[in-house]
Amino acid sequence: MDLVYNLLVALHLLGMAAVVGGWIAVRSGRTVVAPIVWGARAQLVTGLALVGIASAIKDDDHTVNNTKIAVKLVIALVVLAAAEIGSSRGRKGKDTGNLLDVAGGGAVVNVLVAAIW
Ligand code: HEM
Repeated sequence: MDLVYNLLVALHLLGMAAVVGGWIAVRSGRTVVAPIVWGARAQLVTGLALVGIASAIKDDDHTVNNTKIAVKLVIALVVLAAAEIGSSRGRKGKDTGNLLDVAGGGAVVNVLVAAIW
C-alpha cells in the first residue's frame, strides 16, 4: 500500500508541476494550455485518493488534517474551474480574462498550504 501511496504522491507533485510550470510557461501568451487543465484534474483525483488511503491506514506516517484538506479541496476546485472555463473560452477565441492567473496562482496557494500549514 505504501508503494501505491508514494506513487500517488509522485503523481500529485507532477500534477502540481503541470499547473504551476504551465502557468509560468504561458503567462506571456495568456492562454490556458491543455497541460494546465489535465494537471488541475490530476490534483483533484490524486489528492482525493491520497486522503482516502491515508484515512484507511491512519498510522503516524499517514494522518489527515481535515480542515487543511477542506481548504485545499476548495482551492483545487477553484483552480480546476478556472482552468476548464479558461481553456474552453480560449478554444472559442473568447477573452479569458484573468482565469489563467486564478488557476496558476491558486495552485501556488495550495502548494503553500500543503507545505506550510
Ligand atoms: C491545485 C491543487 C493542489 C496542489 C497544487 C497540491 C499540492 C500539494 C503538494 C506540493 C504536496 C506535497 C506536500 C509535502 O510533501 O509536504 C501535497 C500533498 C498532499 N495533498 Fe495536495 N495539492 C492540491 C490539491 C489537493 C487536493 C484537492 C487534495 C485532497 C482533497 C490534496 C491532498 C493532499 C494530501 C493528502 C497530501 C499529503 C501527501 C503526503 O502524505 O505527503 N491535495 N499537495
